[in-house]
Amino acid sequence: MKTVLYPGSFDPFTNGHLDLVERAGLLFDRVVVAVAVNAAKSPIFTMQERCDLIRQSCAKLEHVEVVAIDGLLVDSLNQYGADAILRGLRAFSDFEYELQMALLNRNLRKNCETIFMMPTLKNSFVSSTLIKEVARLNGDFEPYVPPPVAAALRKKLGLADK
Ligand code: PNS
Repeated sequence: MKTVLYPGSFDPFTNGHLDLVERAGLLFDRVVVAVAVNAAKSPIFTMQERCDLIRQSCAKLEHVEVVAIDGLLVDSLNQYGADAILRGLRAFSDFEYELQMALLNRNLRKNCETIFMMPTLKNSFVSSTLIKEVARLNGDFEPYVPPPVAAALRKKLGLADK
């Protein structure tokens, strides 16, 4: 049984994230989506809200488990029986940050491997940060997030129902 841990702040979970979770299911028996703390970000959704939205968005995917983690990511690998970390790479601009994290994680825990997957082209420009900005400015963000996330984002930002 091969397990991969897919960490992120997921504020909120987008179609790009969903795409990766689906793709990872073709390679791994179990994908544990780990909602984690990124000290550099101030999320608009609570940890619990983010976990619930991912669970709703992935409800049809049997290989997916959603957990909230705190502390160091590498310390969660054993806890969830994960063989590797999964991260998405969209563009070259993601690479430097991802390389730093992957190498630091491997220094923190020997044999900690990070696997990168690319989303489909139509999701390759989607980021949680941009989605929130478009939503705040009343733009059409709905094509880029799963329906439960769209509804929650509208509610959180006080936008009118569609
Ligand atoms: O979606 P993000 O915000 O790019 O995800 C970054 C995240 C949450 C994976 C990263 O900040 C993280 O691993 N946080 C947990 C604490 C930790 O282990 N930090 C050291 C990373 S090298």
